Amino acid sequence: MSRDRYDPLQMALHWVMALLIFSAFGLIWYFNSLELGPQTFKLKFQVIAWHKWAGISVMFLLILRLAWRLGRGAPAPLPNQPAWQLKAAASIHHLLYLLMFALPCIGWLMSSAKGYSVVLFGEWPLPDLVGKNETLGATLAEVHYYLGYTLLALVVLHAAAAIKHHLIDRDATLSRMLPWGR
Ligand code: HEM
Ligand code: HEM
Repeated sequence: MSRDRYDPLQMALHWVMALLIFSAFGLIWYFNSLELGPQTFKLKFQVIAWHKWAGISVMFLLILRLAWRLGRGAPAPLPNQPAWQLKAAASIHHLLYLLMFALPCIGWLMSSAKGYSVVLFGEWPLPDLVGKNETLGATLAEVHYYLGYTLLALVVLHAAAAIKHHLIDRDATLSRMLPWGR
């Protein structure tokens, strides 16, 4: 069935997951800004745990999001969009999906390799994906870092394109992803 807007679940998942990803960045930057000391030790530990919870939540929500997206499809492309723009947007969407999955997986693997098990929301222990291995942990931390900032760069590009469509082209690209859009 052809439709001209994302459905409510697609919008909810898009914006909740965007919020979780922005929180993951905010939390890790806050974590990095705290000096390690007897007063900040507990806080740093809590902040990195929140970062992990936000990231793991993204991974689980992504499963629902992809299943719903494959079943429900997306609204038809707007008319009069240049082919290169449609291709560029689709490629960026695919990369965003890939990174939303790869980053939490690598974060989880990294935590296991560093010998820190992930306890989701402080309640549910997740299994360690690999045994303790400092060298692997350090390599995965580097991969996680570079992929994290690649995701951020793509998100900036993606959001800038959406705002350009809204303010300059004045088309429905953004409003059909907004619950109050028409
Ligand atoms: C969407 C999900 C995620 C994003 C966008 C993300 C992003 C990042 C970024 C950008 C950094 C490096 C920040 C810096 O040093 O400037 C980082 C560090 C870190 N992340 Fe994530 N992350 C995600 C998920 C996870 C998950 C699921 C875990 C663990 C279960 C995790 C564990 C860590 C740890 C332990 C560090 C510090 C690494 C170190 O320097 O030793 N992250 N994350
Ligand atoms: C972490 C942040 C974000 C991520 C990971 C993300 C990811 C995505 C993905 C994967 C899609 C494709 C949906 C589909 O399957 O069809 C999408 C669509 C969309 N996103 Fe985002 N997004 C983020 C933030 C934003 C922001 C901040 C804006 C606006 C300022 C935005 C505006 C849109 C719009 C308008 C669409 C629909 C595009 C179209 O119909 O071609 N997104 N987003």
